[in-house]
Amino acid sequence: MSYTQTLQDTARALVAARKGILAADQSPRTIDKQLEAIGVKPTAEMRRKYRQLLFTTPNIEEYVTGVILHDGTIRNHTDDGTLFSDLLIAKGIIPIIKVDKGTVPHTNFSGEVLTQGLDNLRDRLEEYYNMGARAAKWRAVFTISEHTPSEQNILFDCMTLSRYAALCQEAGVVPIVEPEVLFSGNHSLERAEAVTTQVLQKLFEQLQWYKIDLSGVILKSSMVLAGSEYAQQTPAEEVAQATMRTFMNSVPKEVPSIVFLSGGQTPQRATENLDAIAELEAQEGGFPWELAFSFSRGIEQPVQEAWKGKEEKVEEAQRALIKRLQLNSMADQGTYDPSME
Ligand code: 13P
Repeated sequence: MSYTQTLQDTARALVAARKGILAADQSPRTIDKQLEAIGVKPTAEMRRKYRQLLFTTPNIEEYVTGVILHDGTIRNHTDDGTLFSDLLIAKGIIPIIKVDKGTVPHTNFSGEVLTQGLDNLRDRLEEYYNMGARAAKWRAVFTISEHTPSEQNILFDCMTLSRYAALCQEAGVVPIVEPEVLFSGNHSLERAEAVTTQVLQKLFEQLQWYKIDLSGVILKSSMVLAGSEYAQQTPAEEVAQATMRTFMNSVPKEVPSIVFLSGGQTPQRATENLDAIAELEAQEGGFPWELAFSFSRGIEQPVQEAWKGKEEKVEEAQRALIKRLQLNSMADQGTYDPSME
C-alpha cells in the first residue's frame, strides 16, 4: 500500500460514522489537578488506575475509533501488565500520541504562548510508531484579547505545526493538527469567528507551503463561541453556523476530516453544539469534511465525578463514560436531544 493511501486510510478510520476520538492525553500536571478536584491524591498509581478504568470500559470500541495518549500513558499498562496501547489495538482502537511538549511564554509578546516539542521529534515518532501509534496530536493555543493573538504568534505556531506535520507524514503517522482558539475571555462571537478564520487560513497556507499532503491530515478545532465571560452566550444553531462558515472560508476540501475539542464547555453544551452542527450539515446537504468529536473534558468530567478514586465505583464510572459517548455519537448524527441527559 502506498504511503498516501496508508495515511488516508488511517485518517478515514479515525472518523468512522457515529464514532469519535477520546482525548485522554492530559499531561501529568493537568490530570493531577483533575484528580485533586474529585478528592483523589494525585499519584502515578492513581493516574494509571484512572486510565485503566477508561480503556477497559466494555464496548468502548463501539463509539471510539482512537484514543489520544500522553507519553507516560502509552508506556503504561493494566494491572496484569498489558500495555495500554496493546489493549486498545486488540479492541480495534488506534493509539494516538500527543507529541507536543506544552507551551512556553512567547518572549516579547505578553499574554501569548508558543508550543514546543520539535527536538528529536523524528526519532520519537519512530519509537511511537513501533509502539503502535498511527496518528499524533500537536496543540497550539491562541488567546483572544484586545491585542492578541498577534500575527507573529499565529505565524510561528503555524510554521511549527507544519514542521510537526511533515515529520509525522514522513513517519507514516497522521498529524492531528490542533490550533485551539481559547474559549476563555470576554470576546464576542464575531471576534471568535474572525480570529479562528485568521488562524486557520494561516495554518493551511503554511501547511501547503511546507508541502504537507492535506489528504492525510486531520484538523482538530475549537468550535466558534463567544468568550466564556461574554454576557451573551450563543444558541447552538448560531454556534453551528459560525463554526461551519469559518471552516468554509478557511479549510481546503482536500482535508478529509475535522474533529472538535470541547474547550471547557460543559459536557452537555459541547454535545448540543455538535448536534446542531450535524443538523446544519443535513440541512445544507453535507460539508466537504467528515466531522466528529474528540473531547477530553466534555467526555471525562462525568466519569471522574462518578469514580472519585473508589474501586467500588469503577463500573458506575464506566457506565458514565459509555453514556457520554453514546450521547455524542447521537449528536454526531444530529439525533441527540437534551431529554436524553
Ligand atoms: P478538551 O475537549 O477538554 O478541550 O480537550 C481536548 C484536547 O485534546 C485538548 O488538547
